[in-house]
Amino acid sequence: MKIEYDKDLARMNTFGMKVSCACYVEFSSEDELSDIFRNMERYGFPQPFLHIGGGSNLLFTRDFPGTVFHSAIRFIRRVDVQGDSGLKASSGAAGRPESVLVEAGSGVLWDDFCAWCAGEGFWGPENLSGIPGEAGAAAVQNIGAYGVEVKDIVREVRCFDVVTGVIRPLHVKDCRYGYRDSIFKDTAKGRYVVTSVVFALSSVPQPRLEYGHVRSAVEQALSSSGAGPATSSGPSLVRDVILGIRGSKLPDPAVVGNAGSFFKNPVVPRSSYDIVENYAKSRYGADYEVPHFDAGSGFIKIPAAWLIEQCGWKGYREGNVGVYEKQPIVLVNVTGKASPDEVVALEHKIVMSVQNLFGITLHPEVEHI
Ligand code: EPU
Repeated sequence: MKIEYDKDLARMNTFGMKVSCACYVEFSSEDELSDIFRNMERYGFPQPFLHIGGGSNLLFTRDFPGTVFHSAIRFIRRVDVQGDSGLKASSGAAGRPESVLVEAGSGVLWDDFCAWCAGEGFWGPENLSGIPGEAGAAAVQNIGAYGVEVKDIVREVRCFDVVTGVIRPLHVKDCRYGYRDSIFKDTAKGRYVVTSVVFALSSVPQPRLEYGHVRSAVEQALSSSGAGPATSSGPSLVRDVILGIRGSKLPDPAVVGNAGSFFKNPVVPRSSYDIVENYAKSRYGADYEVPHFDAGSGFIKIPAAWLIEQCGWKGYREGNVGVYEKQPIVLVNVTGKASPDEVVALEHKIVMSVQNLFGITLHPEVEHI
């Protein structure tokens, strides 16, 4: 276990906020984690407690007065034999395992996991390649990109229950996943510490290419490599295509501080969408199509990026902060010296302008601490 006091968190949040915490604790096994919670009084770690992953979806708004916990549980292994938790992979008609169960420690870098799976020829996480952060946080946030959400491949989330003090495996159904949402962010917030995640992957090709221009990009990559159809390409090719698309649209946090999508895409009733559509048609002509997705039950999801761009924010810069010029859903720490107040001030201005123009309230995706 690693314990540090007055820890600088600048390198532990991808936004690059220069903040610190009173205490920082890194555990590298479930036993260490249980020991911490069994002997809390003896350790005397300052409260409140915060569990972080790669700090890629956080905005620290001030120095954190309590203890930040971080998992250094880092392993990736196949678990396709029946184990303690009763997990078992399914077999294909020829006895060949089609569904492969792979467990990753919560502290594994998410993209290392994606690279490992692609290297093994396992399909599942390739569309989620390149997302910053760690495997445990991926399961908490239900990360999603290019038509796939992590819930689609999660089988079980193994957690330490801070109330009962025991390890509890939660089946994917018990995680109550929704768009960027789960029980871990909602009713069970603070109760479970994720120690590992079991994923159900496929050893037979299962490319998911329906989002945006993913299919055409994969076909182009296949034709330049002289390979056959996408199903025979292997997940590595899809992974490479996704990494290329991400790289062309999203800023690399190692180069410019950011926390990915700062806002969620709003899901609105039809009547709100009609206001947006009327605005767009009067501005761009009757043939203009507002980008949108049917969210079911009469609701429509509109890209926050589009709404923000309509309000003129794309590429905007003020002091040390800005709106990314290629994807306005992302706020950036342009100089690396942005303060939390600057980010929050820009966030509020954007929310107000979208509210004033469209009557739609944007909600942050990034968690404010
Ligand atoms: N758009 C614009 N202007 C722009 C960029 C986009 O109007 O400058 C519109 C376009 O109509 C585009 C639409 O927004 O078709 C959607 O854009 P994009 O495909 O980039 O996706 P997004 O909805 O903005 C979501 C996720 C991303 C994920 C992408 C790709 C959320 C909050 N964000 O963004 O996730 O990478 O889809 O699947 O759902 C993240 O969570 O940090 C993240 C980056």
